[in-house]
Amino acid sequence: MSAHEPHPVRGRFNAWFLAVAEPGMHREYGERKRRLFGEIPETVVELGPGTGANFRYYPRGTKVIAVEPNPMMLDRMQAQARKQGVEIDLRHAGAEGMDVESASAQLVVSTLVLCSVRDPERVVSEVRRVLRPGGRFAFLEHVGAPTGSGKRRLQERIHRPWQWLGEGCDLTRDTARTLESAGFSSLELERFDSAVSWAPWAPHIAGFAIR
Ligand SMILES: C[S@@+](CC[C@H](N)C(=O)[O-])C[C@H]1O[C@@H](n2cnc3c(N)ncnc32)[C@H](O)[C@@H]1O
Repeated sequence: MSAHEPHPVRGRFNAWFLAVAEPGMHREYGERKRRLFGEIPETVVELGPGTGANFRYYPRGTKVIAVEPNPMMLDRMQAQARKQGVEIDLRHAGAEGMDVESASAQLVVSTLVLCSVRDPERVVSEVRRVLRPGGRFAFLEHVGAPTGSGKRRLQERIHRPWQWLGEGCDLTRDTARTLESAGFSSLELERFDSAVSWAPWAPHIAGFAIR
């Protein structure tokens, strides 16, 4: 299997699960996403769009450069693109090496992706490369709970089976630190817990960084 090739069963399960979870994610994150994404340009670069949960926030006619390594997401992503009237330009690869021109993007979006990529520092450095000066990186991610907390102990206890089932999803990532040390010219970041506050994925960060 190549570095990003999904497992035939778990890859399919994750595509199905994302599609089923989409209405709940919309209720949970919708308002926040609208605020974070800001004004949507004609072309958006989206990391790991999966089944296209974010397409509903883009105006009809938006072109989405979709950097998505899991081909099992494609049918649902395309169906969602048709429903929302957006056009997909697929880059079938991991975001660690995006086939996207340098300094070309006004908006890069990542929701619930930096938990799953193999090399988050590399991905964020790629985001900086493809953004124009002044361009925006909007993110919403679940992250590791504070060290020593009960939630953190839970995250660490279930880390291995979770990562196996979620094909790389890491509950304990310190994505805020990755973003803070990435060299953006500004960074706005808030922390919040998802509505299911007991859940191991409850701690989140959301915000935007400007190149
Ligand atoms: C939990 S899903 C989130 C999907 C979508 N962004 C959302 O908010 O519903 C994680 C997504 O990241 C993708 N992914 C995993 N590794 C990746 C990588 N290295 N580069 C880009 N996307 C990746 C997965 O295939 C999947 O579509």
